[in-house]
Amino acid sequence: MRRIFFNLKHIFDFLRGRPVFELPYYREAELSRLMNLFAHVDLDAWRGMRILEVGAGLGHLGDVFAQLGFDVTSSDGRPEHVERMKARGRDAIVLDLDEQGVEGLEGYDVILAFGVLYHLGNPERFLESCGQHAKVLLLESAVSDAAEPKLDMVKEIAAGWRGQDQALNEIGCRPSVSWVEATCRRAGFDRIRDISNPIADWEIGTFDWSPTGHGETRSGAKNYRRMWVMERTTPE
Ligand SMILES: C[S@@+](CC[C@H](N)C(=O)[O-])C[C@H]1O[C@@H](n2cnc3c(N)ncnc32)[C@H](O)[C@@H]1O
Repeated sequence: MRRIFFNLKHIFDFLRGRPVFELPYYREAELSRLMNLFAHVDLDAWRGMRILEVGAGLGHLGDVFAQLGFDVTSSDGRPEHVERMKARGRDAIVLDLDEQGVEGLEGYDVILAFGVLYHLGNPERFLESCGQHAKVLLLESAVSDAAEPKLDMVKEIAAGWRGQDQALNEIGCRPSVSWVEATCRRAGFDRIRDISNPIADWEIGTFDWSPTGHGETRSGAKNYRRMWVMERTTPE
């Protein structure tokens, strides 16, 4: 029932022509996830580090780090989102993570990757490239509750109003928690902190779920999510 109501609200916003990133549930998701992140990390430990935001949408999360004094470049696979960020004066580049991960981008210490891993057809390559190029990966994603390391691929809508925040290349995934952690460890992140907490919950996303081990990805209207701080403490 809540899902039907949510979809009806979506249709109404579509008719009003609002970008999906400006809908109230998106703003709620941005604030709740940042609140959780900031409750769990010492931002001062990263002072002076350059941040690359990936799968940024319109870059609202990166905006907050920029306001806090960080040097932030935001990126997205969709050129129209990047143009909107640039129009606001933000440093922004087009970056298709399925195509190149973060390879070829030197000088970034922190990768901010919220809400994008599960929109990738090649998430392993992306995580591997993060391990090669960054010291810290701030990762947040939809996940499945499968017990074993498992990556289920899903088809997504890539075009039109409903596609503007979905998989650029039409194929996304639902990784299990153990898959993400094992892949990040192989990528070189030796300190993995799961900071998932209900503080980060919003209308259609929850960090407050108990695994059944069956590979479920949602309960009712709420997607299962996880948030991690991945760090590489040993030199490359
Ligand atoms: C769900 S939105 C997340 C926006 C923001 N990071 C957040 O968490 O609120 C996913 C974003 O990832 C982008 N995206 C999808 N596939 C991508 C890819 N292969 N490479 C880079 N960005 C991609 C979409 O264009 C969209 O802006």
